[in-house]
Amino acid sequence: MRRPEKAYRPLETSDSYDTITQQRETFMSPSLRTFQAYSRPLVLKRGEGQYLWDVHEKKYVDLMAQNLCISVGYNHPLVNSEAKRQIDRLAHCTTMYAQSMPSHFAEELVGRFPPGPEWVAHFVNSGSEAIDLAILMARLFTGHFEIIALRNGYHGLHFGAMALTGIQSCRQPVPSAHGILHVPNPDSYRGVFGSAVAPYVDEIGHAVMASTPGRIAGFIAEPIQGFGGVIPLPPGYLAGAFERTRAAGGVCIVDEVQTGFTRTGSHYWGFQAQGVLPDIIVLGKGIGNGFPLSAVVAKREIAEAMARKKFFNTYGSNPISCAAGRAVLRAIEEDRTLRNADETGDYLKQRLLGLQAKHERIGDVRGSGLMLGVELVKDRSTKEPADVEAGKVAAHARDNGVIVGKGGVFGNVLRINPPLCIERHDVDFVVDILDQGFRCI
Ligand SMILES: Cc1ncc(COP(=O)(O)O)c(C=O)c1O
Repeated sequence: MRRPEKAYRPLETSDSYDTITQQRETFMSPSLRTFQAYSRPLVLKRGEGQYLWDVHEKKYVDLMAQNLCISVGYNHPLVNSEAKRQIDRLAHCTTMYAQSMPSHFAEELVGRFPPGPEWVAHFVNSGSEAIDLAILMARLFTGHFEIIALRNGYHGLHFGAMALTGIQSCRQPVPSAHGILHVPNPDSYRGVFGSAVAPYVDEIGHAVMASTPGRIAGFIAEPIQGFGGVIPLPPGYLAGAFERTRAAGGVCIVDEVQTGFTRTGSHYWGFQAQGVLPDIIVLGKGIGNGFPLSAVVAKREIAEAMARKKFFNTYGSNPISCAAGRAVLRAIEEDRTLRNADETGDYLKQRLLGLQAKHERIGDVRGSGLMLGVELVKDRSTKEPADVEAGKVAAHARDNGVIVGKGGVFGNVLRINPPLCIERHDVDFVVDILDQGFRCI
């Protein structure tokens, strides 16, 4: 046994920009180069609330929240204290044994879903794992195989999840998982059928008729396509899509990895704004405020289909992550993030629309709550994407203390998804910096 009195020396850690970037280049996988925020890497040191500091102690307002993982804010006192309490008790306990954190968390989490169905939760570690699990559940429950997904959707990059992701730059040139059909995504700004809803819904029926035996396992969509460029599904689309899916024997899966936990304002979950009730919901990112955690919440009868063969995931239900998840649920309520996503999100959107009125390069401002996108075009009538200009605005923002994302299939959409604790005065600051950036391009 370890001697209790033994004093371990703390590990030495460098804060040198050059050391960290060289180590990353030399010892970490080259694949990191494919998804790096800036060509000159940003090396971060600490965070507090909606702010980050780099290794040079430069402060930033963070509009990306680590790709929406930081929901209730960096260094959140409740999340930290609950996670630390659990570290000191038991860092891990596999699901072969019972433990208090996953069971408490499951009860508290399913209690946040609309009443009616008997919801159950299954915890894993990343969005991609949760997506794979949701697809497996849908297939086992229905006994059918094909899954319909949306073009331009993002569901992760592991084997199964990558097959659902409908974005060329995310598709490795290898045989993909079978049984996935992509239909046109209802994009009111650039979509093949413009801002209409019915033709996009009809495409689901056409895909069932043309490419399946007539029965499908399910349909999956993000309420707002995040990585794909912050593209909200128009009102009525999910209701139509769910109807077509259920008519073909499938279950309806919503990917709330980005949109969940009050992010989109007005409701706790993104699907609620569309007035629908899914059968399976996939959660990730903000669920753990930075701790590796994801979940599939499903109607019990669907999840029961997974109980016929073994299913085990070594780190699924990790008690530290579940302790953090419980604290996130509490913080969402106590910090009133839903109200903030509504009020500050609305104020931010209005200010961005104000920028659109001033700057021709802004073709579209969209999204809801604190999940917003600003699409840059060279010309509003041709909608030719202005990706270089978007890069310049993002670089200007970085130089002036604002981290903003740049995404969309053409790389021309500024992505704005700050921690849910961002305040009005931060909005004034970031909009002024973006305004300057637009004046420089
Ligand atoms: C909507 C959505 N689903 C799934 C995933 C995959 O999550 P992960 O990167 O944790 O595997 C992501 C990641 O960005 C996402 O945005």
